[in-house]
Amino acid sequence: MTPTPTSARRKEGVGVTPTPQREKDRAGVTPLRDALLEESIYLPIEATIAAAQPMTKLEKLFKVELPQGLSLQHEPGQFVGVSVLGVGEAPISISSSPSRSNGSFELCVRKVGAVTQALHALKPGQSIGIRGPFGHGFPVADFRGKDILFAPGGLGLAPLRSLIQEVLDQRHLFGRVVLLYGARNPSELLFTDEIESWRQRGDMEIHLTVDRGDEAWKGNVGVITTLFPKIQVHPRNTIAVTVGPPVMYRFVLMELLGKGIPEGNIWLSLERRMKCGVGKCGHCQMNHVFACQDGPAFSYAQIKPLEEAL
Ligand SMILES: Cc1cc2nc3c(=O)[nH]c(=O)nc-3n(C[C@H](O)[C@H](O)[C@H](O)COP(=O)(O)OP(=O)(O)OC[C@H]3O[C@@H](n4cnc5c(N)ncnc54)[C@H](O)[C@@H]3O)c2cc1C
Ligand code: FES
Repeated sequence: MTPTPTSARRKEGVGVTPTPQREKDRAGVTPLRDALLEESIYLPIEATIAAAQPMTKLEKLFKVELPQGLSLQHEPGQFVGVSVLGVGEAPISISSSPSRSNGSFELCVRKVGAVTQALHALKPGQSIGIRGPFGHGFPVADFRGKDILFAPGGLGLAPLRSLIQEVLDQRHLFGRVVLLYGARNPSELLFTDEIESWRQRGDMEIHLTVDRGDEAWKGNVGVITTLFPKIQVHPRNTIAVTVGPPVMYRFVLMELLGKGIPEGNIWLSLERRMKCGVGKCGHCQMNHVFACQDGPAFSYAQIKPLEEAL
């Protein structure tokens, strides 16, 4: 077979945002997506699991190391395609912030099916495939100067953690920072040690809730919307970011809009069944929008007109 010229193969990556020169120059490292585009955006790069830490019965936190000289250079809210050889690929959000991801990054993975079960069975030192980062994340630079209200539910804290870390690493650039986080029960709350360290900082307001408590749980019991009466916001100066199961969005949106936060100031992440990650296969299409490429982070104002979005 005649090899495809690189210029033609580059066209396969039309849906991938080009890397600004400024980022390419940073510390002489190559952004992963540029390395992929040299061959094909569909061919993963082999990366190494540096650590795999159980978090709950179903979730593990993976630290992934890219080959030397490559860097992810992602935006908070973007995702990667993670593949296990001989099993398949699944889209997984990047859970660590760009500010803390230099050659390595973190993924919080819930064991639900073939790929994620195979991933959970892998040990540090073993290889996985990585493509990406894909899509548009949260426009954190536009959030500067605003109060930030994070409202994740369950596994939704995994992608939001990337944004929370990014905000906390530049804390002086933002106003009040509030976290409202809910899970079904105390054993399903993620990143509990890190949440405690955020609480210790003293510059972030945190309220947790669980749908069902246990004997040790002393906190709020009820769905995440029961936390909203505990906080006051300056609606026009607040950016709200919520990530969670689709059923949660309807109720959280009602609370946020009820507090007077403008539709364009409310951000969420939409998960769809995804395959290519670059706007080619159509698996993630909602009306005329591709969640993999136009999202997964959207403002409510952007998706409100899309019948298939929520
Ligand atoms: C942008 C994005 C970011 C994500 N981030 C994360 C993350 O950070 N962490 C994480 O754990 N997961 C994340 N996910 C979800 C993850 O990609 C899915 O759970 C993925 O399907 C797991 O692959 P699997 O092969 O293990 O399971 P699958 O075999 O795909 O099964 C997963 C679940 O989906 C159901 N299912 C399978 N096929 C279909 C179908 N055709 N239609 C409807 N339901 C079906 C199964 O019954 C099962 O409950 C993300 C998804 C997207 C789109
Ligand atoms: S995943 Fe293929 S078009 Fe979005």
